[in-house]
Amino acid sequence: MDYKNLLLTKEAGYAIIQFNRPEVLNAINIQLMIELVDALESLDKDDDVRCVILTGNEKAFAAGADIKEMADASAMEMLSRDQFARWDRIRKIKKPIIAAVSGFALGGGCELAMTCDIIIASETARFGQPEISLGVIPGAGGTQRLTRAVGKAKAMEMVLTGRAITAEEAKQWGLINKVVPVEYCLREAIDLAKEIASKPPVAVRLAKEAVLKSFDTTIEGGLEYERRNFYLLFASNDQKEGMSAFMEKRKPAWKGK
Ligand code: CAA
Repeated sequence: MDYKNLLLTKEAGYAIIQFNRPEVLNAINIQLMIELVDALESLDKDDDVRCVILTGNEKAFAAGADIKEMADASAMEMLSRDQFARWDRIRKIKKPIIAAVSGFALGGGCELAMTCDIIIASETARFGQPEISLGVIPGAGGTQRLTRAVGKAKAMEMVLTGRAITAEEAKQWGLINKVVPVEYCLREAIDLAKEIASKPPVAVRLAKEAVLKSFDTTIEGGLEYERRNFYLLFASNDQKEGMSAFMEKRKPAWKGK
C-alpha cells in the first residue's frame, strides 16, 4: 500500500511510523487508520522488525479523530462506517508498540497512545479526552483504557471536563512511562525499541500477550495463561540458549525460534 498519511522508516530491529497530516495536527481520518493498520499488520509479519514506534511531530502526536469527517454523519452512517473496528486490529498486533508523544494527544490521539504498550512523552505533551466539549464521548477506548490506567476518579475528571493533563501529571498518574525534553523524545523511544529488539522475540511476544491478558480475565485465568506461556517457552530454542548462555557466562545468540 502507498501511504499518504504516514511516513514509514525501517531500521535494524525496529520501525518508526510517523503520522503525516501536520496541517490538521495529525487528526485521525479513516484513510490514516486504514494505512496505520496496514502498516502495523505488515510490520507484525516482518521478522526483521521486533518493535514498532508510533510518533507524530513536535506540535501533535494526534489531535483526535477527524472532526470534519464525522461532523455531519448520522448515527446509521457511523454504525456502518464502524471505524473503531480497525482499532481492535491494533490491539491484536503481537509486536510491542511504543508511542513517542510530543504536543497534543487528544481524543483519538490519546486513545491511540493508550493502545500502544509503552508511552514516552516529551515535556510538551498534553493528554486529554475532550470529546465531551463536542457533544460526544470517547469512542476508541478512552473511557475503558484511561480508567484502567489512572483509576476511576481521575478518568472521570478528564472525561467529564475534557481538560487535558500535562506530561508530568500523566507520568504521576501512571498513564505514561517517562517524560523527556522534546528533542530527546524519539531518541528515547528508539533506545527502548532497540533494547526490546535485542531480547528473544518469542518470549517478547508471549510476555506482551500475557500482560495484555490481565485486562480481560480474572487473576486465576491470567495466572493460568501466564503459566502456559511460561511452559511453552521451554519448547523454544531461545530458552535453551538463554539459560545455557547464563550458565556459560556468555552473551546469548537469539534465533527467534
Ligand atoms: N479534526 C479535524 N481537524 C482538526 C482537529 C481534529 N480533531 N484538530 C485540529 N484540527 C485542525 C484545525 O481545524 C485547524 O485546521 P484549519 O487550519 O483548517 O482551521 C488545524 O488543525 C490547526 O488547529 P488549530 O488552529 O485549532 O490549532 P490550535 O493550536 O489553535 O489548537 C487544539 C490546537 C487545541 C488541539 C485544537 O485544534 C483542538 O481543540 N482540536 C480538536 C481536539 C479534539 O476535540 N479532539 C477530539 C476529536 S473527537 C475524537 O477523537 C473521538 C474519538 O474518541 C476517537
